[in-house]
Amino acid sequence: MTSDIIAVIPVAGVGTRLRPHTHTLPKVLLHVAGKPILAHILDDLPGLGIRRAVLIVGYMGDLVREYVGAHYQHLDVEYVEQPEPMGLGHAVSLAAPFADDGRVLIILGDTVFEADLRPVLAGGVNSIGVKEVQDPRRFGIVERDPDGRVTRLVEKPEQPTSNLAITGIYYFDRGGPLFDALAELQRLGLRTKGEFQLTDAMQLLVSRGELITTFPVEGWYDCGKTETLLETNRVLLGKCKGATAVAGSLVHPPVCIADDAVVENCILGPHVSVAAGAQLRNAVVRDSIINENATVEDIMLESSVVGVNAVVRGGYRRVNVGDSSEVDFT
Ligand code: G1P
Repeated sequence: MTSDIIAVIPVAGVGTRLRPHTHTLPKVLLHVAGKPILAHILDDLPGLGIRRAVLIVGYMGDLVREYVGAHYQHLDVEYVEQPEPMGLGHAVSLAAPFADDGRVLIILGDTVFEADLRPVLAGGVNSIGVKEVQDPRRFGIVERDPDGRVTRLVEKPEQPTSNLAITGIYYFDRGGPLFDALAELQRLGLRTKGEFQLTDAMQLLVSRGELITTFPVEGWYDCGKTETLLETNRVLLGKCKGATAVAGSLVHPPVCIADDAVVENCILGPHVSVAAGAQLRNAVVRDSIINENATVEDIMLESSVVGVNAVVRGGYRRVNVGDSSEVDFT
């Protein structure tokens, strides 16, 4: 039985590296491969037998509530406000009243991933998703003993002793010890890099003799900045069916077009995600994300993100070029 698991999803982050898009939208609502980042996570929950989720909201939390309320009535979702950014450990600790000592699956709201969580949830032990990375200094890292038990965890080490990064998916078979450790960090004022860290709470658990294991996360897609958002869009679109034809336009798959988007006389793809209400006319677009209700007309675009309600309009040029001239508009 996995139905008693509660998903804790911190979505309070500001997403500064994704400006200007995050001036008007919380990061987790940015579109990638046909739906908001958060939808990629929430859509997987029922398949795992999870019907309850706690969302830790902060920056533009109202928009998160509105989106989730409108699209996920089949989930039992609670919202908790993190009034100040005091760290991931602090964010997760706010879920304590809902999760209590039950089973908890924490998924960072900006983590799009591929991993089979079913054996993890059925395993009956605490386990965190890890992946080897080139530069572990940007992440929390874990060290393991030969039996695969986590022996040490360090948040963003300057001199990493392991290249196994914490990916942002954590399963705790009992919430109680975790929430105790998080409370203790706060009681003692133990911050790392100015914040209460989930990694530090897990280190506390390990030092108390609690067992934590790891599981591999094969696909781990970063959505932290525009370039990586587009890269994630490319990878995920490559895996889904998407649109193959639009009357009057040319589609080079993979392309994902929302049902009520308007596409007229365009050449789209590969790797284009077009959200609901967007209108594209006389445009050539590849490797791009066009968000809700955006307008794109008479233009060639690549590697672009067009925000909600934004208008991008080009036009035809007039030239009067003599023989043997060279005109270069690049
Ligand atoms: C958080 C965690 C870190 C983890 C990372 C994964 O850091 O604190 O341990 O490796 O997520 O993305 P953040 O990216 O929020 O700074």
